[in-house]
Amino acid sequence: MTALLEVEDLRVAYGKIEAVKGISFTVDAGEVVTLIGTNGAGKTTTLRTLSGLLKPVGGQIRFNGRSLKKVPAHQIVALGLAHSPEGRHIFPRMTIEDNLRLGAFLRSDRPGIEKDIQRAYDLFPILGERRKQAAGTLSGGEQQMLAMGRALMSQPKLLMLDEPSMGLSPIMMQKIMATIAELKAQGTTILLVEQNAQAALSLADHGHVMEVGSIKLSGTGRDLLHDESVRKAYLGED
Ligand SMILES: Nc1ncnc2c1ncn2[C@@H]1O[C@H](COP(=O)(O)OP(=O)(O)OP(=O)(O)O)[C@@H](O)[C@H]1O
Ligand SMILES: [Mg+2]
Repeated sequence: MTALLEVEDLRVAYGKIEAVKGISFTVDAGEVVTLIGTNGAGKTTTLRTLSGLLKPVGGQIRFNGRSLKKVPAHQIVALGLAHSPEGRHIFPRMTIEDNLRLGAFLRSDRPGIEKDIQRAYDLFPILGERRKQAAGTLSGGEQQMLAMGRALMSQPKLLMLDEPSMGLSPIMMQKIMATIAELKAQGTTILLVEQNAQAALSLADHGHVMEVGSIKLSGTGRDLLHDESVRKAYLGED
């Protein structure tokens, strides 16, 4: 069986500066794969390239067996690749419900859309309670829930989450991680970028450690969680 996502020798540059220097990894259907690494390692650049927002200077991206090289960003969403970006980017003046509906902009199956809005409310009850309020009134953690809910509205085959726990309290972070685990249990395939290596590796099937544009180490979540160099560099142990 071929992987749902295949990234091969991917290179991405900002002008002359290469931010991603030839990385390769795969994501199988049903898996959670995490990219961890320090600030500036190239994690966000990688996700933005997979979404079609940045153009690679080299390498291959295949999604569901198809090359994404010449596919524009909006068609990539239509193919089933959704992105919950770093910093959330919700629309603060629109209601929570309208933000969710935006995530379904490519769909026309009204009953299915209503069902998925309800599913988002089941996943995050606070969003349902406040559905008619402006999204800007939500707390940071609640806005993160909205960003995840919105990404799910496109019925993605692969959900990419860029630092969903950033800036959240420990309790909110646990809630977000529990939701990711719940989505995984429901069969959602997830590519998770996280600074919180402990949380990400604990729920990931596979992980890759990125440093200055390259993958330095790969393994199962469990192996990386117990790897001495990972523990020293990312889990604050000496
Ligand atoms: N628009 C840009 N123009 C020029 N350089 C950029 C741009 N965006 C990112 N970079 C550089 O590319 C490198 C990779 O950045 P990227 O945002 O992908 O890292 P990251 O792993 O997501 O980091 P963080 O954990 O801080 O979010 C960094 O050196 C960054 O300064
Ligand atoms: Mg980033």
